[in-house]
Amino acid sequence: MCDKELLGRLRLAAEARLSAPRLAHTLGVEAEALRLAAHHGLSEEETAHLRAAALLHDITKELSPEDHLKLCEKWDILLDCETVSCPAVLHQFTGAAVAAREFALPEAVCAAIRTHTTGGWEMDAIARILYLADLLEPGRPFAGNAEICELRAMAEEDLCRACLVQMRRDIRRLRELGRRVHPLTEAACAAMEREYMRRR
Ligand SMILES: [Fe+2]
Ligand SMILES: [Fe+2]
Repeated sequence: MCDKELLGRLRLAAEARLSAPRLAHTLGVEAEALRLAAHHGLSEEETAHLRAAALLHDITKELSPEDHLKLCEKWDILLDCETVSCPAVLHQFTGAAVAAREFALPEAVCAAIRTHTTGGWEMDAIARILYLADLLEPGRPFAGNAEICELRAMAEEDLCRACLVQMRRDIRRLRELGRRVHPLTEAACAAMEREYMRRR
């Protein structure tokens, strides 16, 4: 369980390790995540886990690629070549390791951090909300554009559909740019598609 004292320590860690703009983003994600958690009726425990995940989700984002790799070595984090060649994704794995190794946070928290950029095979409500809140927090430069407003409305209505739509958008955008899509994003999209179609 993430109690008040632990959440306070996580907030202090974020304040100590992040630049002012990244800290503002992190606190924005925490607030957006809490709003969605209340809207979707998450339990007190799930909400505390979500809050911990939001506070730590970008905790290693400002490390150099070399420092990321050092952390991977120190904590035996195995990365595939897709991830090693994608610096924007590395921080979700090292961030999850900080949550597990340094703060002994439960797997639900670590898993949400581990999938917040790419998505993943299995995403519970905590992981889905973190993934969406990371995009929806109002400090983002793209806040207020039509796609994001649409995503916000969808996130309130149906977390699965909102994640699915956003993952499809990401995949399309990356393909248009001729960039590789991370296999985890393809897997996450396929899993969300299956769940969404099953329910219809
Ligand atoms: Fe991130
Ligand atoms: Fe973020």
